[in-house]
Order: sequence, then C-alpha cells, then structure tokens
Amino acid sequence: MNETVGVPKAELHCHIEGAAPPRLVLQFADQHGVDVSEIIDGNGQYVWSDFTTFLKAYDVASSVFKTPADYSLLSETYFRMLAAEGAIYGEIFISPDHAQAAGLSYRSYVEGLAAGIERAKTDTAIEGRMIAIGVRHFGAASVERVAKEVIGNPHPLVTGFGLAGDERSGHPANFAKAFRMAEEAGLGTTAHAGEFGGPESITAALEFLRVKRLGHGVRAIEDKDLVKRLADEKIVLEVCPGSNTALGVYTVLRFHPVNILRREGVKITLNSDDPPFFGTTLGKEYSSVAETFSWTLDDQLDVTRTAIDAAFCDETTRNRLLVRLDSAKNGG
Ligand code: ADE
Ligand code: ZN
Repeated sequence: MNETVGVPKAELHCHIEGAAPPRLVLQFADQHGVDVSEIIDGNGQYVWSDFTTFLKAYDVASSVFKTPADYSLLSETYFRMLAAEGAIYGEIFISPDHAQAAGLSYRSYVEGLAAGIERAKTDTAIEGRMIAIGVRHFGAASVERVAKEVIGNPHPLVTGFGLAGDERSGHPANFAKAFRMAEEAGLGTTAHAGEFGGPESITAALEFLRVKRLGHGVRAIEDKDLVKRLADEKIVLEVCPGSNTALGVYTVLRFHPVNILRREGVKITLNSDDPPFFGTTLGKEYSSVAETFSWTLDDQLDVTRTAIDAAFCDETTRNRLLVRLDSAKNGG
C-alpha cells in the first residue's frame, strides 16, 4: 500500500445533491423537461462564480431529481465512486427541503437514497449513512420542520441532523430548538460554521447547537484560544480543502490551515463537500493534502481513523470499519 488510492478512506461531509455528476443532471433534466443551461456549460461543467451563485446552481441541479428512482441512481453512483477511490465509509448530507421543492415526500426521498446506498454496498462493501440537513438561509421554522420530519419518520440509515446553507444568514441561537429535538431523538449533530463566518460563528455554533462535529470549522485558525478549545474538547472538523480553495476562502491549498490545525492537536477529517462543483473527489482531497503538506501514509490512515471514530453509526459498524482499517494498515 504505497499510493493514496490504497489508503482506506472515510468521508463525513458531502452534500448528495452537490455530488451529482453533471451528466446525470443533464440526463434527468432532459427526462423531466428542466432547463439547466444556466448551470452547466457546453463542456459539461458546472457554472458558478461565488458562494451565492454556487448555492443557486446547487438548487437548480437538485431540482432535476424528482423520483425515488432518480435519487437511488444518484446515491448508488456516488457511493460506487467513493468505493472506487478506496472509501470504506461515507456519510451524505441529504436535504429534505430540496426534495420537497422537487415534489418528493421525505419518506420517498430517504427510501430512494437508501436503496442506492444498499445497492452500492452489495457490490463494494462500502457502508453509508445519511445526515438530514436544514438550510440555514431558509430560516428557523424550516429547520425545525426538517428536524420533526426526520424524528417522525425514523430510518436506520438516517443517523444525523445538521445545518448547512449560508452561514452569513441567521444566528445559531435561532436553530437551538431544532438541535435539541434532534439530540433528544438520538441523532448525531453537526453544523457548518467557520467557512464563511469567523471564529465567533464557531463559538456560537458550539454554544447554541452543542455540536461535537463542525462542517469546515477551519476559520478557527484566526483565534488561537479557539484552536486550543477545539483540541481540548476533541471537536472533529469536517475539513473540505478543495471546496475552500474553489470558493475563495483560501487562495491556494498551501495557505489552507488544515496542516496547522492538525499539528495543534485538532481532530481533522478530509471531505469533498460538493465534488463536481469544486473539481474534486475524496481521493483528490487525500492525495493533494498529503502531497502539499508531506503527510505520510500513517497520517492519512490517522485521518480515516478520526472519521470512523466520529462517524454517526452504531458501534458494531464502527468496530467492523476499524478492523478493515487496521487490516489495510497491516498490509492485509
Ligand atoms: N450546501 C452545499 N454546499 C455547501 C457549503 N459548502 N456550505 C454551506 N452549505 C452548503
Ligand atoms: Zn458542506
């Protein structure tokens, strides 16, 4: 095992609608009569220019998935791609608001996605779970509605609840009630913070949402006391370096704080966020970070271990994944 592709990987942060390959979006757009010409160019690449236009393009791409079978094909495609890059575990963010906007009930959305995850697992042994997210810029009532829907319709593969969307809108206090409900229902929780917001946004997410995992969280680097707090409290960061450079949070990877945060003792995982939008994959995240910061194979395996330790899965699954990781480490 001497190439990154041979490193067992685990992903905790990927938006399933944002993982849709443009060719799949074009296929369903054609089938359902949706115009996607403003978001996919003649070369089959997504078109956006900043965070706001990215979020709009993501909305349009989501709108072409209209049936449970459409979503099955999307999740199956994504998990097969992950497995082909050496991933043994993946969590996807699912967005009931986007499914609803496309005319799909929460139940049929989840059942469709679950069928695709199971099909990919049968062939590749990759394990998958789903984290239902509320969209921050849709407001507190909408996020609470998602929490209620998830709790009222339990599914064994929906094991988490999260907050995504535009971090520049709405204070975390507005979403505290939704997070309390999710926590009481036994769901794992995570929230995007410290991507477009600074350290104060992270501190507020920790205080009001009581999360132990943060989507991004990288702008903690701007406050050294906060870095120490994250390390002390073993908060796990779902770091998405390719997303951050594509969206201009950092100009180039070598200026990204992932390496310093890790050296300071913060728990780091690597993730692709919305891979085809940002020209990345989970495998590319591992290899580009390893190359840029001279991370060894052991460093990369350690990142996977952190992700499995923090995964929103049952203990039997976690132990099975750790055995697979250890056997790869020992050359098995
Ligand atoms: N939804 C999809 N991708 C996102 C990101 N990078 N940040 C916040 N919300 C998102
Ligand atoms: Zn994200």
